[in-house]
Amino acid sequence: ASNGSPCSAHPQLPIAEYGIEKPHGRPLWLLAELTYKCPLQCPYCSNPLDFADFGSELTTQQWLDVFAQGRELGAVQLGFSGGEPLVRQDLIELIGGAHEMGYYTNLITSGVGLNERKMAEFHKAGLDHIQVSFQASDESVNNMLAGSKKAFAQKLKMAREVKAQGYPMVLNFVTHRHNIDRIDRIIELCVELEADYVELATCQYYGWAFENVEQLLPTRAQLERAEAVTNEYRGKLAAEGNPIKLIFVTPDYYEERPKGCMNGWGQVFLTVTPDGKALPCHSARMLPIEFPNVAETSLEEIWSKSPGFNYFRGDDWMKEPCRSCDEKDKDFGGCHCQAYMMTGDMHNADPVCGKSQHHGLIVDARDRAEQVINNSEDFLFRNERNSRIIAKG
Ligand code: FES
Repeated sequence: ASNGSPCSAHPQLPIAEYGIEKPHGRPLWLLAELTYKCPLQCPYCSNPLDFADFGSELTTQQWLDVFAQGRELGAVQLGFSGGEPLVRQDLIELIGGAHEMGYYTNLITSGVGLNERKMAEFHKAGLDHIQVSFQASDESVNNMLAGSKKAFAQKLKMAREVKAQGYPMVLNFVTHRHNIDRIDRIIELCVELEADYVELATCQYYGWAFENVEQLLPTRAQLERAEAVTNEYRGKLAAEGNPIKLIFVTPDYYEERPKGCMNGWGQVFLTVTPDGKALPCHSARMLPIEFPNVAETSLEEIWSKSPGFNYFRGDDWMKEPCRSCDEKDKDFGGCHCQAYMMTGDMHNADPVCGKSQHHGLIVDARDRAEQVINNSEDFLFRNERNSRIIAKG
Protein backbone atom coordinates (compact mmCIF):
# COMPACT_ATOMS: atom_id res chain seq x y z
CA ALA A 1 0.00 0.00 0.00
CA SER A 2 3.00 2.31 0.01
CA ASN A 3 2.12 3.71 -3.40
CA GLY A 4 -0.85 5.44 -1.80
CA SER A 5 -3.59 3.01 -2.74
CA PRO A 6 -6.02 2.15 0.07
CA CYS A 7 -4.82 -0.86 2.06
CA SER A 8 -7.11 -3.65 3.15
CA ALA A 9 -6.78 -2.75 6.84
CA HIS A 10 -8.46 0.57 6.10
CA PRO A 11 -10.75 -0.15 3.16
CA GLN A 12 -12.59 3.14 3.40
CA LEU A 13 -12.07 6.61 4.69
CA PRO A 14 -14.14 6.71 7.87
CA ILE A 15 -13.93 10.42 8.56
CA ALA A 16 -13.56 12.70 5.58
CA GLU A 17 -15.98 12.33 2.73
CA TYR A 18 -15.58 13.92 -0.65
CA GLY A 19 -16.75 17.51 -0.68
CA ILE A 20 -16.65 17.92 3.09
CA GLU A 21 -14.41 20.79 3.95
CA LYS A 22 -12.93 21.26 7.40
CA PRO A 23 -11.33 24.45 8.76
CA HIS A 24 -7.90 25.05 7.30
CA GLY A 25 -5.36 27.74 6.50
CA ARG A 26 -3.66 28.55 3.21
CA PRO A 27 -0.92 26.44 1.65
CA LEU A 28 1.75 29.08 2.24
CA TRP A 29 4.63 26.71 1.60
CA LEU A 30 4.60 24.71 -1.61
CA LEU A 31 7.23 22.03 -2.11
CA ALA A 32 7.80 20.80 -5.66
CA GLU A 33 9.58 17.46 -5.66
CA LEU A 34 10.60 17.75 -9.27
CA THR A 35 12.14 14.31 -9.70
CA TYR A 36 13.08 11.17 -7.80
CA LYS A 37 16.28 10.90 -9.86
CA CYS A 38 19.44 11.56 -7.88
CA PRO A 39 23.15 10.91 -8.49
CA LEU A 40 23.71 10.24 -4.77
CA GLN A 41 22.41 7.41 -2.62
CA CYS A 42 22.10 8.77 0.90
CA PRO A 43 20.79 6.15 3.32
CA TYR A 44 18.78 8.80 5.21
CA CYS A 45 16.78 10.04 2.22
CA SER A 46 13.12 10.65 3.05
CA ASN A 47 11.88 9.67 -0.43
CA PRO A 48 9.56 6.65 -0.60
CA LEU A 49 11.30 3.28 -0.67
CA ASP A 50 9.57 2.27 -3.89
CA PHE A 51 10.25 5.58 -5.72
CA ALA A 52 11.61 3.74 -8.77
CA ASP A 53 8.16 2.32 -9.39
CA PHE A 54 6.23 5.54 -9.86
CA GLY A 55 4.95 7.00 -13.08
CA SER A 56 6.38 9.66 -15.34
CA GLU A 57 7.29 13.14 -14.16
CA LEU A 58 5.06 16.17 -14.65
CA THR A 59 5.93 18.27 -17.68
CA THR A 60 7.22 21.84 -17.52
CA GLN A 61 3.78 23.21 -18.33
CA GLN A 62 2.08 21.06 -15.71
CA TRP A 63 4.50 22.31 -13.05
CA LEU A 64 3.96 25.94 -14.10
CA ASP A 65 0.19 25.41 -13.87
CA VAL A 66 0.57 23.98 -10.38
CA PHE A 67 2.68 26.97 -9.32
CA ALA A 68 0.11 29.40 -10.69
CA GLN A 69 -2.73 27.62 -8.90
CA GLY A 70 -0.63 27.59 -5.72
CA ARG A 71 -0.18 31.38 -5.88
CA GLU A 72 -3.92 31.83 -6.29
CA LEU A 73 -4.42 29.80 -3.13
CA GLY A 74 -2.00 32.06 -1.28
CA ALA A 75 1.29 30.15 -1.51
CA VAL A 76 4.29 32.47 -1.06
CA GLN A 77 7.27 30.18 -0.79
CA LEU A 78 8.21 27.55 -3.33
CA GLY A 79 10.86 24.95 -2.70
CA PHE A 80 12.43 22.90 -5.50
CA SER A 81 13.59 19.55 -4.22
CA GLY A 82 13.69 15.93 -5.25
CA GLY A 83 15.62 13.60 -5.65
CA GLU A 84 18.07 16.07 -7.08
CA PRO A 85 16.17 18.94 -8.74
CA LEU A 86 19.21 19.84 -10.87
CA VAL A 87 18.52 16.72 -12.90
CA ARG A 88 15.52 18.49 -14.47
CA GLN A 89 16.62 20.16 -17.69
CA ASP A 90 13.85 22.75 -17.38
CA LEU A 91 14.86 24.01 -13.94
CA ILE A 92 15.68 27.51 -15.18
CA GLU A 93 12.30 27.81 -16.83
CA LEU A 94 10.56 26.63 -13.65
CA ILE A 95 12.54 29.06 -11.50
CA GLY A 96 11.83 31.93 -13.90
CA GLY A 97 8.11 31.13 -14.04
CA ALA A 98 7.83 30.89 -10.26
CA HIS A 99 9.75 34.14 -9.79
CA GLU A 100 7.46 36.00 -12.18
CA MET A 101 4.46 34.72 -10.25
CA GLY A 102 5.89 36.35 -7.12
CA TYR A 103 7.17 33.35 -5.20
CA TYR A 104 10.15 33.38 -2.88
CA THR A 105 12.07 30.48 -4.41
CA ASN A 106 14.38 28.03 -2.76
CA LEU A 107 16.55 25.33 -4.33
CA ILE A 108 17.34 22.38 -2.08
CA THR A 109 20.28 20.58 -3.61
CA SER A 110 23.27 18.34 -2.99
CA GLY A 111 25.26 20.65 -5.28
CA VAL A 112 26.18 17.68 -7.47
CA GLY A 113 25.48 18.71 -11.06
CA LEU A 114 25.74 22.41 -10.25
CA ASN A 115 28.34 24.74 -11.77
CA GLU A 116 29.10 28.46 -11.81
CA ARG A 117 27.29 29.05 -15.10
CA LYS A 118 24.08 27.34 -14.00
CA MET A 119 24.13 29.14 -10.69
CA ALA A 120 24.45 32.50 -12.44
CA GLU A 121 21.58 31.58 -14.77
CA PHE A 122 19.40 30.60 -11.82
CA HIS A 123 20.21 33.94 -10.21
CA LYS A 124 19.22 35.77 -13.36
CA ALA A 125 16.00 33.78 -13.53
CA GLY A 126 15.16 35.01 -10.02
CA LEU A 127 16.20 32.24 -7.65
CA ASP A 128 16.25 33.67 -4.10
CA HIS A 129 17.95 30.99 -2.09
CA ILE A 130 20.08 27.85 -2.43
CA GLN A 131 20.48 25.30 0.33
CA VAL A 132 23.43 22.93 -0.12
CA SER A 133 23.34 19.78 1.94
CA PHE A 134 26.43 17.98 3.19
CA GLN A 135 26.78 14.47 4.55
CA ALA A 136 29.84 15.14 6.73
CA SER A 137 32.78 17.50 7.23
CA ASP A 138 35.16 14.76 6.33
CA GLU A 139 35.71 13.78 2.74
CA SER A 140 35.75 10.02 3.22
CA VAL A 141 32.65 9.87 5.47
CA ASN A 142 30.83 12.29 3.19
CA ASN A 143 31.62 10.29 0.10
CA MET A 144 30.81 6.96 1.73
CA LEU A 145 27.36 8.24 2.73
CA ALA A 146 26.70 9.94 -0.57
CA GLY A 147 27.92 6.94 -2.53
CA SER A 148 30.11 9.18 -4.70
CA LYS A 149 33.86 9.75 -4.76
CA LYS A 150 33.65 13.32 -5.99
CA ALA A 151 30.71 14.60 -3.97
CA PHE A 152 32.60 16.38 -1.20
CA ALA A 153 34.98 18.43 -3.34
CA GLN A 154 32.09 19.42 -5.59
CA LYS A 155 29.92 20.49 -2.64
CA LEU A 156 32.70 22.64 -1.21
CA LYS A 157 33.23 24.32 -4.52
CA MET A 158 29.53 25.00 -4.97
CA ALA A 159 29.06 26.22 -1.40
CA ARG A 160 31.82 28.81 -2.04
CA GLU A 161 30.19 29.79 -5.30
CA VAL A 162 26.80 30.30 -3.61
CA LYS A 163 28.43 32.93 -1.42
CA ALA A 164 30.39 34.46 -4.27
CA GLN A 165 27.20 34.96 -6.29
CA GLY A 166 25.48 36.82 -3.47
CA TYR A 167 22.93 34.26 -2.34
CA PRO A 168 22.36 33.82 1.40
CA MET A 169 24.58 30.87 2.32
CA VAL A 170 22.50 28.15 3.95
CA LEU A 171 24.16 24.85 4.67
CA ASN A 172 22.46 21.75 5.88
CA PHE A 173 24.42 19.03 7.63
CA VAL A 174 22.44 15.89 8.30
CA THR A 175 23.95 14.52 11.48
CA HIS A 176 23.79 10.95 12.76
CA ARG A 177 25.86 8.51 14.77
CA HIS A 178 28.58 8.29 12.09
CA ASN A 179 29.38 12.01 11.95
CA ILE A 180 27.95 13.74 15.01
CA ASP A 181 31.13 13.34 17.08
CA ARG A 182 32.87 15.61 14.58
CA ILE A 183 30.42 18.44 15.01
CA ASP A 184 33.27 20.80 15.95
CA ARG A 185 34.88 20.13 12.58
CA ILE A 186 31.53 20.57 10.84
CA ILE A 187 31.03 23.97 12.48
CA GLU A 188 34.58 25.04 11.63
CA LEU A 189 34.02 24.12 8.02
CA CYS A 190 30.84 26.22 7.97
CA VAL A 191 32.73 29.18 9.46
CA GLU A 192 35.44 28.74 6.86
CA LEU A 193 32.79 28.76 4.12
CA GLU A 194 31.29 31.95 5.64
CA ALA A 195 27.87 30.41 6.00
CA ASP A 196 25.01 32.64 7.14
CA TYR A 197 22.77 29.84 8.42
CA VAL A 198 23.71 26.28 9.26
CA GLU A 199 21.19 23.62 10.03
CA LEU A 200 22.75 20.85 12.10
CA ALA A 201 19.82 18.51 11.85
CA THR A 202 19.92 14.99 13.20
CA CYS A 203 18.00 13.03 10.64
CA GLN A 204 14.35 12.26 10.97
CA TYR A 205 13.44 8.66 10.39
CA TYR A 206 11.23 8.54 7.32
CA GLY A 207 11.62 6.67 4.04
CA TRP A 208 15.12 5.23 3.70
CA ALA A 209 16.19 6.71 7.03
CA PHE A 210 13.59 4.58 8.80
CA GLU A 211 15.09 1.46 7.22
CA ASN A 212 18.52 2.56 8.43
CA VAL A 213 17.55 3.86 11.85
CA GLU A 214 19.92 1.55 13.74
CA GLN A 215 22.94 2.81 11.84
CA LEU A 216 21.79 6.43 12.06
CA LEU A 217 20.32 7.13 15.49
CA PRO A 218 22.95 8.69 17.76
CA THR A 219 23.19 7.78 21.43
CA ARG A 220 21.95 10.21 24.06
CA ALA A 221 25.54 10.90 25.09
CA GLN A 222 26.51 11.75 21.49
CA LEU A 223 23.59 14.14 21.19
CA GLU A 224 24.22 15.88 24.49
CA ARG A 225 27.88 16.33 23.67
CA ALA A 226 27.07 17.68 20.19
CA GLU A 227 24.60 20.17 21.59
CA ALA A 228 27.09 21.32 24.22
CA VAL A 229 29.81 21.77 21.57
CA THR A 230 27.36 23.74 19.39
CA ASN A 231 26.50 26.00 22.33
CA GLU A 232 30.18 26.60 23.03
CA TYR A 233 30.74 27.62 19.41
CA ARG A 234 27.69 29.87 19.48
CA GLY A 235 29.16 31.75 22.42
CA LYS A 236 32.64 31.91 20.95
CA LEU A 237 31.53 33.01 17.48
CA ALA A 238 29.15 35.64 18.84
CA ALA A 239 31.99 37.05 20.96
CA GLU A 240 34.10 37.29 17.80
CA GLY A 241 31.28 39.17 16.08
CA ASN A 242 30.56 36.33 13.63
CA PRO A 243 26.86 36.57 12.63
CA ILE A 244 26.60 32.88 11.63
CA LYS A 245 23.42 31.22 12.93
CA LEU A 246 23.78 27.63 14.10
CA ILE A 247 20.48 25.78 14.26
CA PHE A 248 20.66 22.48 16.14
CA VAL A 249 17.77 20.06 15.59
CA THR A 250 17.48 16.99 17.84
CA PRO A 251 15.71 13.88 16.58
CA ASP A 252 12.25 13.55 18.04
CA TYR A 253 13.17 10.03 19.23
CA TYR A 254 14.78 11.81 22.19
CA GLU A 255 11.69 13.85 23.05
CA GLU A 256 8.78 12.97 25.32
CA ARG A 257 6.21 14.99 23.40
CA PRO A 258 5.67 14.86 19.63
CA LYS A 259 6.20 17.68 17.19
CA GLY A 260 3.14 19.39 15.73
CA CYS A 261 3.98 17.80 12.41
CA MET A 262 3.73 20.15 9.41
CA ASN A 263 2.12 22.72 11.71
CA GLY A 264 -1.01 20.65 11.39
CA TRP A 265 -2.16 18.39 8.58
CA GLY A 266 -3.34 20.37 5.55
CA GLN A 267 -2.83 23.73 7.27
CA VAL A 268 0.17 25.46 5.66
CA PHE A 269 2.14 22.89 3.69
CA LEU A 270 1.50 21.22 0.36
CA THR A 271 3.93 18.99 -1.48
CA VAL A 272 3.65 17.69 -5.01
CA THR A 273 5.56 14.54 -5.98
CA PRO A 274 7.39 14.13 -9.32
CA ASP A 275 4.40 12.27 -10.79
CA GLY A 276 1.87 14.79 -9.51
CA LYS A 277 0.47 13.39 -6.26
CA ALA A 278 -0.50 16.19 -3.91
CA LEU A 279 0.36 15.43 -0.29
CA PRO A 280 0.02 17.24 3.05
CA CYS A 281 3.53 16.10 4.03
CA HIS A 282 6.54 14.59 2.26
CA SER A 283 5.87 11.09 3.64
CA ALA A 284 2.11 10.78 3.36
CA ARG A 285 2.35 8.77 0.16
CA MET A 286 2.89 5.60 2.20
CA LEU A 287 -0.32 6.05 4.20
CA PRO A 288 -3.46 4.08 3.36
CA ILE A 289 -5.17 7.21 2.05
CA GLU A 290 -5.97 8.01 -1.57
CA PHE A 291 -4.37 11.32 -2.53
CA PRO A 292 -5.35 13.21 -5.69
CA ASN A 293 -3.08 14.01 -8.59
CA VAL A 294 -2.59 17.58 -9.84
CA ALA A 295 -2.87 16.30 -13.41
CA GLU A 296 -6.52 15.41 -12.76
CA THR A 297 -7.75 17.69 -9.98
CA SER A 298 -7.34 21.41 -9.38
CA LEU A 299 -5.16 22.45 -6.48
CA GLU A 300 -8.08 24.39 -5.02
CA GLU A 301 -10.23 21.28 -4.92
CA ILE A 302 -7.37 19.18 -3.59
CA TRP A 303 -6.58 21.62 -0.80
CA SER A 304 -10.12 22.42 0.27
CA LYS A 305 -12.23 19.41 -0.47
CA SER A 306 -10.23 16.25 -1.04
CA PRO A 307 -10.71 13.55 1.60
CA GLY A 308 -6.95 13.11 1.86
CA PHE A 309 -6.27 16.72 2.87
CA ASN A 310 -9.27 16.78 5.21
CA TYR A 311 -8.46 13.44 6.79
CA PHE A 312 -6.53 14.66 9.86
CA ARG A 313 -7.88 18.19 9.99
CA GLY A 314 -9.59 18.97 13.29
CA ASP A 315 -9.64 16.37 16.06
CA ASP A 316 -12.62 14.12 15.42
CA TRP A 317 -10.26 11.41 14.12
CA MET A 318 -8.46 11.20 17.45
CA LYS A 319 -8.40 8.22 19.75
CA GLU A 320 -7.16 8.24 23.33
CA PRO A 321 -4.81 9.45 24.72
CA CYS A 322 -4.96 12.34 22.20
CA ARG A 323 -8.73 12.91 22.40
CA SER A 324 -8.72 14.03 26.02
CA CYS A 325 -5.18 15.46 26.03
CA ASP A 326 -4.80 19.12 26.99
CA GLU A 327 -1.87 19.44 24.56
CA LYS A 328 -3.77 18.29 21.47
CA ASP A 329 -4.11 21.82 20.12
CA LYS A 330 -0.33 22.16 20.26
CA ASP A 331 0.85 18.90 18.70
CA PHE A 332 -2.30 17.72 16.84
CA GLY A 333 -1.50 14.12 17.86
CA GLY A 334 2.04 14.37 16.44
CA CYS A 335 3.14 12.75 13.24
CA HIS A 336 0.67 10.39 11.55
CA CYS A 337 3.35 8.94 9.30
CA GLN A 338 5.47 8.04 12.31
CA ALA A 339 2.45 6.47 14.02
CA TYR A 340 1.78 4.44 10.89
CA MET A 341 5.38 3.31 10.35
CA MET A 342 5.87 2.28 13.96
CA THR A 343 2.46 1.01 15.07
CA GLY A 344 0.71 0.13 11.79
CA ASP A 345 -2.21 2.47 12.59
CA MET A 346 -2.00 6.11 11.52
CA HIS A 347 -4.82 7.04 13.94
CA ASN A 348 -2.65 6.23 16.93
CA ALA A 349 -0.85 8.95 18.83
CA ASP A 350 2.68 9.49 17.62
CA PRO A 351 4.74 6.97 19.67
CA VAL A 352 7.23 9.74 20.46
CA CYS A 353 4.64 10.89 23.00
CA GLY A 354 5.31 9.61 26.53
CA LYS A 355 1.52 9.18 26.93
CA SER A 356 1.30 6.78 23.97
CA GLN A 357 0.86 3.10 24.76
CA HIS A 358 3.45 2.51 22.00
CA HIS A 359 6.10 4.81 23.46
CA GLY A 360 8.10 1.68 24.34
CA LEU A 361 9.00 1.38 20.63
CA ILE A 362 10.85 4.69 20.84
CA VAL A 363 12.50 3.72 24.11
CA ASP A 364 13.61 0.42 22.51
CA ALA A 365 15.12 2.29 19.55
CA ARG A 366 17.04 4.54 21.96
CA ASP A 367 18.22 1.49 23.92
CA ARG A 368 19.39 -0.21 20.73
CA ALA A 369 21.37 2.91 19.81
CA GLU A 370 23.48 2.28 22.93
CA GLN A 371 24.43 -1.17 21.68
CA VAL A 372 24.80 -0.89 17.92
CA ILE A 373 28.30 -0.95 16.44
CA ASN A 374 28.83 1.51 13.58
CA ASN A 375 29.13 -0.41 10.36
CA SER A 376 28.58 1.36 7.07
CA GLU A 377 28.15 -2.00 5.34
CA ASP A 378 24.84 -2.36 7.13
CA PHE A 379 23.35 0.64 5.33
CA LEU A 380 20.57 0.12 2.84
CA PHE A 381 21.52 2.76 0.26
CA ARG A 382 18.86 4.70 -1.58
CA ASN A 383 19.23 3.78 -5.22
CA GLU A 384 17.06 2.52 -8.04
CA ARG A 385 18.26 -1.04 -7.75
CA ASN A 386 17.35 -1.33 -4.06
CA SER A 387 14.11 0.52 -4.71
CA ARG A 388 13.06 -1.95 -7.39
CA ILE A 389 13.86 -4.88 -5.14
CA ILE A 390 11.74 -3.35 -2.37
CA ALA A 391 8.89 -2.51 -4.76
CA LYS A 392 8.77 -6.13 -5.88
CA GLY A 393 8.35 -7.07 -2.22
FE1 FES B 1 3.54 12.86 7.53
FE2 FES B 1 4.41 13.78 9.89
S1 FES B 1 5.58 13.36 8.10
S2 FES B 1 2.33 13.55 9.22
